[in-house]
Amino acid sequence: MNHTGTQVRNIILIGFMGCGKSTIGRELKRMLGYQWIDTDATIETQAHCRITEIFAREGEQGFRDRETAALRELLEKNLQSTIVSTGGGAVLREENREMLRQLGYVVWLRANADTIYQRTRKNRDRPILQTENPRAVIEELLLQREPIYRACAHLVIDVAGLNRTEISAGIVESARYYFSQHE
Ligand code: S3P
Repeated sequence: MNHTGTQVRNIILIGFMGCGKSTIGRELKRMLGYQWIDTDATIETQAHCRITEIFAREGEQGFRDRETAALRELLEKNLQSTIVSTGGGAVLREENREMLRQLGYVVWLRANADTIYQRTRKNRDRPILQTENPRAVIEELLLQREPIYRACAHLVIDVAGLNRTEISAGIVESARYYFSQHE
């Protein structure tokens, strides 16, 4: 329920960088005809610059404050029939986790360190992985964050061995069941 007492039918994708939140968000939009919002893209549009620049100018805290503000704005919009892809660290603040669960059905796309490393290694858009040893950073952050993703999620999908259609179909089925039980 949102604060007006209306049942919400949104799907919120959480998970580590490179787990496929944007790809699956786009696929769910195609399958369901819902609108799709990517919080990283929203933050970049509002800041008129890329996330790497926000980190450089305002530090990680500045970015996290923008992330919390973006989630609050989404909640205030009383969204319906929307897919929301979040940044990998959106779950780090407890207030964010509460907002994510109020926004809709939260799905954690769980990927292992190898998959994440392979999918992110050539990309320069993620300031947190611009280090000497991104592989070690991924492993360390996964250890810290996995319990947090798990605590926030209504559904966990292990993405290993599944293609985007299979992952999205699984989410749609589970979300339908969840929404039917929470009317
Ligand atoms: C971050 C993940 C990024 C982006 C920012 C920080 C993180 O989003 O929000 O670079 O802390 O995990 P993606 O998960 O979409 O790459």
